[in-house]
Amino acid sequence: MKKFKIGIIGTGMRTMFLVNEILKKEELEILAVSDISQHSMEQLCSSYEKEWDKYLDYRDLLNREDIDGVIIASPDYCHEEQAIAAFEAGLHVFLEKPIAVTLEGGKKVLEARDKSGKTLLIGFVLRYNKAYRKMKELIASGIIGEVKTGWVLHSVGAGSDWYFHDWHGTMANTGGLLLQKGSHDFDIINWIVDSKIDRIAGFGSQDFFGGNKPNELVCQCCEERNVCSEAIVDRNISWKRPDGNQTEVLYNQWRNKCVYREEIDVLDNHQVMLEYKNGVKVSYLECHYTPDDNREYTFIGTKGKLKLDDANDIITVQLRNGMYDRKEIITYEHLQSSEGHGGGDKYILEDFVYALETGEQPNAGGEAGYEAIEVGLVAHRAIKEGKVINL
Ligand SMILES: NC(=O)c1ccc[n+]([C@@H]2O[C@H](COP(=O)([O-])OP(=O)(O)OC[C@H]3O[C@@H](n4cnc5c(N)ncnc54)[C@H](O)[C@@H]3O)[C@@H](O)[C@H]2O)c1
Repeated sequence: MKKFKIGIIGTGMRTMFLVNEILKKEELEILAVSDISQHSMEQLCSSYEKEWDKYLDYRDLLNREDIDGVIIASPDYCHEEQAIAAFEAGLHVFLEKPIAVTLEGGKKVLEARDKSGKTLLIGFVLRYNKAYRKMKELIASGIIGEVKTGWVLHSVGAGSDWYFHDWHGTMANTGGLLLQKGSHDFDIINWIVDSKIDRIAGFGSQDFFGGNKPNELVCQCCEERNVCSEAIVDRNISWKRPDGNQTEVLYNQWRNKCVYREEIDVLDNHQVMLEYKNGVKVSYLECHYTPDDNREYTFIGTKGKLKLDDANDIITVQLRNGMYDRKEIITYEHLQSSEGHGGGDKYILEDFVYALETGEQPNAGGEAGYEAIEVGLVAHRAIKEGKVINL
């Protein structure tokens, strides 16, 4: 068995938890990490008691001749530049979503990949989560007939925790939350509908987050922190490392800016309607201030209806066999596992290893990454311009 040597760019929250799965994979060996924060690199290494080489400049990591591939988990606005540089250095790339924050950027990443002949995996973990794979398998089997319509409700209950306390809060940094968060869902919708997007309409607003607080204000120094529902609460999170030992970090260290600060210009309420070239219509709701945290996918076909309820880990299929027999229900439960993203992290790494081994493009490849940001960016434009946009 070949052991592939890898480097990681960006050692923040995503990397902290993904490394737990990487260390379980015998085919992968981390040699080096890079981050503009020395503290972040040291914290990652000490959490896992590892002596990985550390670089403040990612180019120094890419210049090493002993690595086969790189995982890029830096903020979204860095992805395009770092992925292109990694391909120019002749490396295979696992790039966190979104592929880039502009369409031009996404195209340039694909061009660099093609020029290098290397592989590009986009961090679409839902494609590798067994519940979503089961949904894809069931729909592809024809159980609900030909899919015609559907809707996806994404309740981002931990919205302020993840997206409004730090760099995620501006359009310039993320391209908008329909890319940052929604690209996972648009990728799944594109995958299920299996057609190209044709028309997009959308409505959106900033209802809850953003405001007139100073950009410099952090929760720890705010006099309202004891009455604010969004104030970060310092708490440690502890988990079991692959070597069996427990490790822990201060969970909220990564995000502490005020969620009502002036610079926040991303929306927190999005309603998007998609029409595909094969005629399938899907609506998508992404709300960042709902108290629950769930993804609910429903598709209706000519023979029935399928619903995936992520938080309850259940898929329900309802068939319409005949006039008096439209309530036949089949359920599939307990599909997800305890690994990161319901097992998605474990299986996406398997695909990364497969790409490293074979040189073949993975399931969640660059085109999927591009098509997902295309939907997100055009949806943001439809919201802004108030019109239906044909692609
Ligand atoms: N696939 C998933 O489900 C999933 C989940 C979480 C995050 N992510 C993605 O991972 C990426 C990182 O998210 P996060 O939550 O870890 O953010 P984070 O802010 O916790 O970590 C980002 C890290 O990148 C570092 N950084 C900033 N600029 C850099 C640069 N120029 N070069 C190298 N490092 C730099 C920061 O210092 C920080 O340590 C994002 O693109 C996000 O979309 C994906």
